[in-house]
Amino acid sequence: MGAHVISFSSDDSLATGAARWIAATLAGIPGDRVNLGLAGGSTPAATYQRLRDEEVGWDRADLWLSDERWVPWDHADSNGRMVADALADHIPARFHRPRFSPHLEPADSAAFYEAELRRLLTDGAADLILLGMGADGHTASLFPGSEALVDQRRWFVHNRVPQQQATRLTATSRLLTAARRVAVLVAGVDKSETLAAVLEGPDGMFPIQFLQQAAGEVTWLTDREAASRLSSTEVDQG
Ligand code: 6PG
Repeated sequence: MGAHVISFSSDDSLATGAARWIAATLAGIPGDRVNLGLAGGSTPAATYQRLRDEEVGWDRADLWLSDERWVPWDHADSNGRMVADALADHIPARFHRPRFSPHLEPADSAAFYEAELRRLLTDGAADLILLGMGADGHTASLFPGSEALVDQRRWFVHNRVPQQQATRLTATSRLLTAARRVAVLVAGVDKSETLAAVLEGPDGMFPIQFLQQAAGEVTWLTDREAASRLSSTEVDQG
């Protein structure tokens, strides 16, 4: 996979460097509105906290989630709660979250959110989507062997994830690969083997390798530990 990799000396400098990279990228996008798809999980929280103070013109920004756990909005596992706490509650951007209710089917919530995204991403191409990567090579909630991984028609779906005994809502590879820009944040030595296999090994082994078909540029923002097993990939030092 041809990829632009930027490696920072520590997870702390990755958080700062990624925030600056995201802010500079968003500031360079012309127009009245800019949209940003946000990753969940734990890695991005430090980056989102640093983004609060970046000069982006947040009042023109629309934030949305590349995936969400099927839990109440205030649940400790909610990606939306993590994003709200770290960033969205502190800036004048609009934050679009999938609906949750115990009386709502996950499939219907995903359909409602997809309709909202179709209004937001008018031509289907997000300005920038941030993603993470699991040690199994999943991204968003597109886990190995899960049904949503092969959905090429819809933009946002619910997904049963046996590995997590959980139901998730997730962008599909169709939406993720259509983005004008994608940035993947990867930190920690536990992901170094997977990152090397994803970028330097055979295709078709990990879900996140669908980014090879991305329409836009894919930038991997890593710390030194996660990039430590890369051998044939050119790595810029952040
Ligand atoms: C989620 C994420 C998921 C995450 C990876 C990496 O809902 O968990 O969207 O795709 O980005 O699992 O997670 P960490 O950053 O916690 O390692």
